[in-house]
Amino acid sequence: MEKKTNIFLIGFMGAGKSTVARRLSEACGMRLIEMDEQIEQEQGMKIPEIFASQGEAYFRGLETALLEDLGRSGGNVVSCGGGVPMRECNVREMRRSGRIICLSAQPETIYERVRHSHNRPLLEGNMNVSYISELMQARLPKYLEAADVIVCTDERSVEEICGEIQAACGLCEEWRRLHR
Ligand code: S3P
Repeated sequence: MEKKTNIFLIGFMGAGKSTVARRLSEACGMRLIEMDEQIEQEQGMKIPEIFASQGEAYFRGLETALLEDLGRSGGNVVSCGGGVPMRECNVREMRRSGRIICLSAQPETIYERVRHSHNRPLLEGNMNVSYISELMQARLPKYLEAADVIVCTDERSVEEICGEIQAACGLCEEWRRLHR
């Protein structure tokens, strides 16, 4: 049987995926993969430059290729870009090689977390609660359908969130058992 040893954190921009992934990877002794950063490194460009020069479809292709690579290894805590679950093939790939944890937050919380960022092309010129709310509603069905576990991050500490993920999945124990 295939070992499902990756942990994929999905959810809207600003849901806390990067912060939680870092802490979870430390707690479980697993490798941290930040998809956006890895793509930026491989392309030698920041995300907004990739969108501007190659287009969004090209970026989405890079995400899919990276997920396929990660599926060939294991033991990764992966902070996914917010658009990853929009593609069926991405969800299939994540399901095949790991557990999918969706982090949620209210649009107002998201806005407070991302309002000063300029590294998210989809929010450039759309940095307001109503746009965030609209895009989130459109994406929600895909996030919910993909998730094995959904964890709310509003007004909660990273420790609490990581604790809930570990308790819900017995993640670290399972990972250690598989790698013994
Ligand atoms: C995107 C989310 C971003 C990044 C890109 C597109 C999206 O990642 O991949 O700007 O479509 O939601 P974060 O969710 O880490 O901000």
